[in-house]
Amino acid sequence: MGEGKCKVENLFKDFRKHSPLKEVRFILAVGSGKGGVGKTTVSGLLALALKEEGFSIGLWDLDFYGPNSTLLFTSEKIETIPEQEGFKPALIEGIKIMSLSFFIQEKEPLFMRGLMAGKLFQELTQRVIWGPLDFLILDLPPGTGDIFLTMLDLYFIDGFILITTPHKLALSDSLRTISILKEKRIPLLGIIKNMANLFPKDGNFSEFLEKVKVPLLYELPFLQDLAEKELLAALKETEWGKRELKNLAEKVLKRVFRFH
Ligand SMILES: Nc1ncnc2c1ncn2[C@@H]1O[C@H](COP(=O)(O)OP(=O)(O)OP(=O)(O)O)[C@@H](O)[C@H]1O
Ligand SMILES: [Mg+2]
Repeated sequence: MGEGKCKVENLFKDFRKHSPLKEVRFILAVGSGKGGVGKTTVSGLLALALKEEGFSIGLWDLDFYGPNSTLLFTSEKIETIPEQEGFKPALIEGIKIMSLSFFIQEKEPLFMRGLMAGKLFQELTQRVIWGPLDFLILDLPPGTGDIFLTMLDLYFIDGFILITTPHKLALSDSLRTISILKEKRIPLLGIIKNMANLFPKDGNFSEFLEKVKVPLLYELPFLQDLAEKELLAALKETEWGKRELKNLAEKVLKRVFRFH
């Protein structure tokens, strides 16, 4: 799909008319209470899955302290060339990606107090030139700290996708995150249960789902191919992987269009 064209009609939302995101149709946030449960992996998969369905996709790596989204798409070091009016995202695998990793060296330490991270987020929001997008996917850092709170100030989130493993520590953190989402009235599209096949005890998870009354959006098993090849595109090489991407896109699209 070429630049300047979007598949979804009725592109402009009134409330975004004057914002830098005025040409973005849906904003989906991928988050979790706990770290390391698969947010970046799922954000990347979702971006790829929706792109394969013909949508124009942006992926924003908002993990300012550990920006690593692009590593799932390419092992090359990406650098953006600043334009006069702002920064253009990199186009990788047909997905527009923006990450702080474009601006820093790999080993460079990122010292930032919360306030600085929030300010940087705000500034980049004004300066990243996404252009028309059907979906902008936000790959959040873990928890509900500064970036999460700044996101709530800056964005209207069309849907939040919560990632968790079935481990009781991840579920406990997820409960807290769900309470915050409810309080802030952020539409929670559903929960993605990740790597469930690695955890022998699933009882915790059924109990958790019953308690929170949030739909299980998707179950993503541990992907051996991904562990070996370390690139998401590896999934497009097998029939099974292609099916997995298609299923993920279908499940998410169904929920998005039910809400909006
Ligand atoms: N379904 C999966 N199959 C195979 N490997 C996975 C899967 N989900 C996550 N992983 C692996 O687990 C590790 C953590 O995943 P990821 O970085 O996506 O988590 P995260 O929630 O984004 O972490 P952080 O909180 O640090 O941002 C990575 O090495 C990733 O490749
Ligand atoms: Mg991550």
